Amino acid sequence: MGNSENNNKELTVEQIREIAAQLRNPTGEKGIEMGHIMNEANVAMIDHTFETLQPVSGESILEIGHGNANHLQKLIKMAPGINYTGLDISETMHLEAKKYCAENGLEGQTTFVHYEGQTIPFASQTFDKIFTINTLYFWESPEAYLNELHRILKPGGKLLITYAEEESMDKLPFTSYGFTKYSPDKFEKLIQNSKFKLESNRQYVEKITSKVLTYDERKFRVGVLMC
Ligand SMILES: C[S@@+](CC[C@H](N)C(=O)[O-])C[C@H]1O[C@@H](n2cnc3c(N)ncnc32)[C@H](O)[C@@H]1O
Repeated sequence: MGNSENNNKELTVEQIREIAAQLRNPTGEKGIEMGHIMNEANVAMIDHTFETLQPVSGESILEIGHGNANHLQKLIKMAPGINYTGLDISETMHLEAKKYCAENGLEGQTTFVHYEGQTIPFASQTFDKIFTINTLYFWESPEAYLNELHRILKPGGKLLITYAEEESMDKLPFTSYGFTKYSPDKFEKLIQNSKFKLESNRQYVEKITSKVLTYDERKFRVGVLMC
């Protein structure tokens, strides 16, 4: 995700609200298009998350909010024997992710689950690692949700949360509609109120210039949380 004020200058409030809604829960043809835009614009966030995740063959790894999952070939190449599960509230993204995996021979080691966004449908101590990119803004009860993620991680497991900083999000008009923005301080306080211990919250700065999105300086972080 990412767009500059210039990109959105000509948009009406309805169009900006529509972008916000599609980012939160991509739906239909426009949702499919948004899935591709996100995957392209968020490549640095995805790459730094994978680098920090250090996936190891044999691990069970959950991703929350995978979008169209077009990043999975890269992840599975890093650790061919992982068992990946993707959980998303968007039926459109759920179907797109399954289609992508079927077309790329990844069906055997990927599972996708569609849910309503609150109750996490997995048994306690199921996963070695969990990661999520650009979904924190949409969590309705973040402390309770974090504690659910803690429950489904194995002891010693890790949760990675990748998020754009509030300062960068403020430059995007659509983030005024249904997004909760996090400064690094606010993020750290959230973690202190959960069952997790914060191991690191490293900052990255990137410039995005793609055919659909430009962003002079996006600051984002990869938060690493320990069980
Ligand atoms: C902004 S997109 C980010 C997609 C991808 N992770 C990326 O960074 O490019 C948000 C994704 O998370 C999903 N999502 C939003 N809230 C969610 C929740 N509470 N649980 C799981 N998925 C959620 C949306 O359906 C969408 O696929």
